[in-house]
Amino acid sequence: MSILNILKYPDSLLQTKAKPVSKVDEEIKRLITDMAETMYFAKGIGLAATQVGVHKRVAVLDVPKDHTKHEGKIFKRGENLIALINPEITDHEGEIKYEEGCLSIPGFTADVKRFSKVAVRALNKDGNEMEIHADGLLAIALQHEIDHLDGILFIDRLSKLKRDIIKRKIKKAIESEKKML
Ligand code: NI
Repeated sequence: MSILNILKYPDSLLQTKAKPVSKVDEEIKRLITDMAETMYFAKGIGLAATQVGVHKRVAVLDVPKDHTKHEGKIFKRGENLIALINPEITDHEGEIKYEEGCLSIPGFTADVKRFSKVAVRALNKDGNEMEIHADGLLAIALQHEIDHLDGILFIDRLSKLKRDIIKRKIKKAIESEKKML
């Protein structure tokens, strides 16, 4: 197992559309193991292969069932771990706004509008077909990770005005960080 490097915005690799996985082999299984380890290490609830520079349609998620209780508590590894290969949204319903963050844009959050319920079809780590019906934070996280596989970041989902403001703030933060090095 190894901790992978998570790409940070504005790395252009984050804008790359990932290719479908044609065969769930040992390499994909190892990728999933490493991605899960990396996600737990970074204290995230989801990670897409795009974020570790692998342009294959693979994502891992571990969304606490009751995320209000999760805040500030020790993250139980593996409790709700989901590995998705070639995930696709097959159905959706409603609308929800939630303050999202991203391991590729550390320190920044913004309210993003998503579907409140989604059905997602994918292959699991054993290559078997699965379908998830999700609402709440899991539905949001699923859409966020699938977006990553399409080269889309949560800031791309904001209005142009809000996007420009947050991009400027991120740029400023990166510049001041560079000065401190
Ligand atoms: Ni993200």
